[in-house]
Amino acid sequence: MLEERIRNAAVRARVTDADEVQAWIRDGMTVGVSGFTKSGDAKAVLKALVRRVERTGERLRIRLLSGASLGEVDGLLAAHDLVDLRSPYQGDATLRRIINGGEVGYIDQHLSEMAEWVRAGWWGEIDLAIIEAAAITEDGGIIPTTSVGNSPVFVERAKRVIVEINPDIPAEFEGLHDIYLPEQRPNRGPIPLVDVGDRIGTPYIPCPPEKIAAVVVSQERDTPSNLTRPDEETEQMAGYILEFLQHEVRRGRLPAGFGPLQSGVGSVANAVLAGLKSAPVRDLEVYTEVMQDAVFELLDAGVVRAASSCSFTLSESMRQHVLANFRDYKDRVVLRPQEISNHPEVVRRLGVIAINAALEVDVYGNVNSTHVQGTHMMNGLGGSGDFARQAALSIFVTKSIAKEGRISCVVPFVAHVDHTEHDVDVLVTERGLVDLRGLPPRARAKAIVDHLAHPDYRDALRDYVRRASARGGNTPHLLEEAFGWHVRYRETGDMRPRVAMLAD
Ligand code: COA
Repeated sequence: MLEERIRNAAVRARVTDADEVQAWIRDGMTVGVSGFTKSGDAKAVLKALVRRVERTGERLRIRLLSGASLGEVDGLLAAHDLVDLRSPYQGDATLRRIINGGEVGYIDQHLSEMAEWVRAGWWGEIDLAIIEAAAITEDGGIIPTTSVGNSPVFVERAKRVIVEINPDIPAEFEGLHDIYLPEQRPNRGPIPLVDVGDRIGTPYIPCPPEKIAAVVVSQERDTPSNLTRPDEETEQMAGYILEFLQHEVRRGRLPAGFGPLQSGVGSVANAVLAGLKSAPVRDLEVYTEVMQDAVFELLDAGVVRAASSCSFTLSESMRQHVLANFRDYKDRVVLRPQEISNHPEVVRRLGVIAINAALEVDVYGNVNSTHVQGTHMMNGLGGSGDFARQAALSIFVTKSIAKEGRISCVVPFVAHVDHTEHDVDVLVTERGLVDLRGLPPRARAKAIVDHLAHPDYRDALRDYVRRASARGGNTPHLLEEAFGWHVRYRETGDMRPRVAMLAD
């Protein structure tokens, strides 16, 4: 096995175990690891680090950079107080709790941009890169596993590289990845990617063999994603989106295949995509950063022809299905660095249709994807901003209410803005869809309240918009009330308007 998976003899001689190599990690280090939305993440060495601090009681904190969220390792490191600073994305409950407690610095960053920060040295030196891989080539090239993330730039910039070879990943993964690193500025040329399936780089992450300081063999599995299944409401949203896209095709405003689809993380975005399965469409393309179960279901159903992504983030049953049948997918799927999967230049060129999820939207179309009540981090904005601003069509979906109706996801003013009204073309809830393009703010407010808000909140929103509009302005607001709904929820646990307020 080792000769097949580590084809460079000198590198093969550096195989060691995770408990040895974790000792290289010291307090204050900046560590760049593979991993993107729970997949292809470095696991063995970081878990060995956890065992070390459990054993020794040592106090140690690192600056942890990755592609996006890690699997269970994010939670383990957080629970053992091993993280001083985290970027660019996370989705773990324990880490989230200590971020929101102010104990860990969290920098929520556009995913496409992180590699530029690393390259420019804004994160300082990368002391160590830890990368999960399927194999290492004769020349030291690192073949990633289920994600690419920021691994190429970490490998390029790190002082030392540790590779975790995972023999459970089929050898056929070689050839799945397309690693392209933009040239140095100035004089950087255009990224030569004009079709979803184009291959513009190498099938491995280039790395001089001497830079690979150690190799660990690990059969740790990706943490499965646990999306809730599509329900009646998410199926309604999928139906609205499909009807809308078909309408755009009929009007000659979209090509017959719509344009490559991007779909964000989370249950709602996954369900919306899954809803396309029963649609009378074929040969769609996907250009996205994370392929959840739905994309593989669409590939199986022949609805999707080709998919480009940065990672696979799958439930356990879908993971087993994909690994067992990988040959069937290989010609139709490519994994790229997030710098390319999310690159604004490429997203704009391809005419991507972006579908991302919101926590809340406001009456003018601003979107909050990250901060509950405007203050508490949920996950991060991930790639939603990379896609939303550049997409041919930027669609945001959310259910109209959350927490059994105690929260309205349509509010007078979002309490945190991730995507401004300028970057949002279409909004969808289970109540309907509104096309905001060409609508001035007051008309937007009317459409959003009439077609997207839940009936429990509609009158109160109308009342807010009416009274704000009477005060004037292009984008009327009652600043003293704009966050009143969030304040009411904080104080009473329910956003629902009191009768007294409506009577005012
Ligand atoms: N206020 C407070 N909580 C809210 C809320 C609101 N307005 N809207 C939803 N929630 C809660 C839900 O109740 C649920 O809570 P639970 O976990 O306790 O059940 C949780 O937020 C997730 O909501 P859900 O409706 O299940 O949506 P989701 O799983 O699709 O996730 C986002 C929605 C916005 C959190 C998720 O899509 C995300 O993190 N997006 C940002 C990253 C991104 O878009 N990346 C895109 C490129 S991949």
